[in-house]
Parts: sequence; C-alpha cells; structure tokens
Amino acid sequence: MKIILFLALIVSSYGYAQSGHDHASESSPKDNQHSDMHGHGSGHHGMGNKDGMMMHGGHHQLDSATLKHFFEPLPASIIDEKKNAALITLGKKLYLDPRLSINDTISCNSCHQLNNFGVDSQPTSPGHDGTRGGRNSPTTFNAALHIAQFWDGRAKDVEEQALGPILNPIEMGMPSKEAVVNKLKRIDEYKVLFADAFKDEKDPIQYKNIGKAIGAFERTLLTPSRFDDYLRGDEKALNDTEKRGLTKFVHMGCANCHNGVAIGGNSFKKIGLVESYETKDLGRYEVTSLEIDKKVFKVPSLRNITQTGPYFHDGSVATLEQAIEEMAEHQLGREVGPGFINDVKAFLGALTSKSR
Ligand code: HEC
Ligand code: HEC
Repeated sequence: MKIILFLALIVSSYGYAQSGHDHASESSPKDNQHSDMHGHGSGHHGMGNKDGMMMHGGHHQLDSATLKHFFEPLPASIIDEKKNAALITLGKKLYLDPRLSINDTISCNSCHQLNNFGVDSQPTSPGHDGTRGGRNSPTTFNAALHIAQFWDGRAKDVEEQALGPILNPIEMGMPSKEAVVNKLKRIDEYKVLFADAFKDEKDPIQYKNIGKAIGAFERTLLTPSRFDDYLRGDEKALNDTEKRGLTKFVHMGCANCHNGVAIGGNSFKKIGLVESYETKDLGRYEVTSLEIDKKVFKVPSLRNITQTGPYFHDGSVATLEQAIEEMAEHQLGREVGPGFINDVKAFLGALTSKSR
C-alpha cells in the first residue's frame, strides 16, 4: 500500500514536472550566478527518488548516497563579503532603518527580525498603519538561496524583492521611488554610505541601488546547522532520534519537495496535492494566471523551521506538530501519529542555526 501510494505520487509529480510547469525545480534550481553552489542534491524528485526509497526502506540510518541525493550542505558563503563590505554595511543599515517607511515606524526588521530568526512570529504582519496583509512573513534567513522570492515566487531574487515592501501601501507605504530617493538624499550618513558602496557611480542614491545593497546584506544571512555537519560526515552531529526523524522524513516522501541546500525553496508545488486544502489564496495563479497554478506555492525552506512559526502561507497553523501532520495528510495522503511527528520534529530541530 505504502509503495503504491509512493509510485502514484512519484508518477504524478513526474508528470507535473514534465508538463513544463515545474521548470524551476529541475536540475538547475537557480539560473543566476549562484547556481554553481547547488550542484547535485537540489531539486531532485520524480523517478530518482524511487531508488533511494526502495533500497533503503527498513533501515534506520540513511546511507550517504541517499543523503547526497536529497540534500546538500550550506555553502560557507554566497557573496564575497570582503569585496562587498561597503555594500553589505549599507544594506544592513537600510534593512534596520524605519525611515524607509512613510511614517518612520516600520523597517524590514519589523517583520523579519534579525534577533528572531528573520520572522515576527505573527500569523500576518501589521504594516505602517497597522493594516495586515493576507500572508505570513517568511524568514529572510537563507532566503537568498531560493529559486525565487515570496510565497508565489513573484520576485526573481532578494535584490528585486527588497524594492517591493518599501512602496507596498500596507507595508512601508512610501508613495514613489522618487520620494524614497529624495528622503535618503537628505540624510548625510547615506550620502557617505552610498558613495562608498557604489564608487563608480556619479549619483549613487538610486532606487535600484537600495535593492542591490539590501540584497547583498541578505546574502550574508546563511545559518549553518548541525545537519550541515552531519552531511559533511560528522556522524555524531545528530542524535538517534534526529537520525530516525531524518529517515522517516525521507521515506515518507517529505524530501520529494523539501530537498536541496535549503531543504525546500527550490520548487513550486500545490498545497493539497493529494487531499485538497482549503484556502482562498490562489498562490502562483496570481502571478501566472495559469489554471494549473491555483493554490501552488513555493515549497518553503525548512531551515530554522522550529523557530519560525506560525506556519503556512497564511500563518494559520500554530504549531510545528500540526504543520507536519497536515503536510502528511494533504501532500502525501498519509495519516501520521505522534511517533512520526515527534521524530520528524526532532530532525527539523537539527536544521536550526548553530549561532543565532
Ligand atoms: C509589514 C511587514 C513586512 C515588512 C515591513 C517587510 N516585509 Fe518582507 N515579507 C513580508 C510578507 C508578509 C512577505 C510574504 C509576502 C508574499 O509572499 O506575498 C514577505 C516576504 C519577504 C521575502 C521573501 C522570502 C521568501 O521566502 O520568499 C523577503 C526576502 C523579504 N520579505 C525581505 C524584506 C525586506 C528586505 C524588507 C524591507 C525592505 C521587507 N521584507 C519588509 C512582510 C514584510
Ligand atoms: C508535494 C510537495 C510537498 C510534500 C511532499 C511535503 N511538503 Fe511541506 N510544504 C509544501 C508546500 C507547497 C508548503 C507551503 C504550504 C502553504 O503554506 O500553503 C509546505 C509547507 C511545509 C511546512 C510549513 C513551512 C512554513 O514555513 O510555514 C512544513 C513544516 C512542512 N511543509 C513539512 C513537511 C513535512 C514534514 C512533510 C512530510 C510529511 C512535507 N512537508 C511534505 C510542499 C510539500
């Protein structure tokens, strides 16, 4: 029964990919300059998973070939931090600065708190006038690794993404690009910081440069975890419960979608693939207008996931236990009990940053 369900899922996700829809999750998960960081491991799914699953079913510990097939350790860095030091300093300053909002109250950090795993721990977030949008604030940590930004992937990278919230009427509420640029030009400190960061430019305080600087800073927000040590061969980095959880995570099929360097973040999938899921949010359909994209969302990265609740695109799921249970039901058509949930939750805890 288990195997039949798996084959059904594999065939369906394979067909899905073959339709050309799921292009981004194939062997080249990102087509920007960082794709070399992703090698194998990213975006594997479809027929390949069958081998991993069948050869290793029943064993408690996954062998290294299976691990490599699904996962990849975090790179040490995805931006030259020395060469880009001035740009990164400016980006961090902008990220933390509420003056990027219309009434000087809201910064990127209000919703993506650097001292709180890049989130605000609320289902949805209040903007400059207290109004909330319909979606949960995802973490900015490791977000630069994703194939695209936002739950629906509507921005191609962190540089492009950063320019959205500043002008969004219910987030930071600035009326226009010019208004933002003029406001920054009146702040002496920014004259110096922009000139340092964009040395070759005559008029460095430009709207697009705000995005470049914030994006560069976000590229430094990588959070190595014990799981990365484990993937690099440190057998003791995970305890037995976490290893058992990892095996269950892979055997159940979670890693069909949550895989690669971010354990997610590299493909778009429908919520309710097997058992339909109630939501008014049409996800990627709002970007592509394709019928097949209704209720399709970017598969979230599971790095730091024990710290970034509440969960799902609308923040409607309060606990990680419930998120795991609902995933098994809606994405895999499986009912899971406390044994599965607790072990998988323990494994997911090993994805938490070691330093933050
Ligand atoms: C009022 C709260 C709020 C503010 C302020 C805000 N964001 Fe967000 N951010 C969100 C929400 C909500 C989303 C998800 C929206 C969506 O997917 O449609 C999001 C998405 C993102 C993402 C995408 C992450 C992913 O996994 O796809 C990044 C990166 C990000 N924000 C960075 C920033 C930066 C940089 C700023 C400042 C320029 C900023 N945000 C300001 C609430 C906020
Ligand atoms: C078919 C692809 C697919 C499979 C299989 C899958 N997931 Fe997901 N997962 C998603 C998508 C898509 C979302 C985003 C759902 C949403 O917010 O609407 C998600 C969300 C999550 C979240 C919440 C993330 C957040 O930041 O809110 C967790 C936790 C999670 N999955 C864990 C699991 C576990 C554990 C399994 C196995 C039992 C699993 N997933 C199986 C695609 C999948």
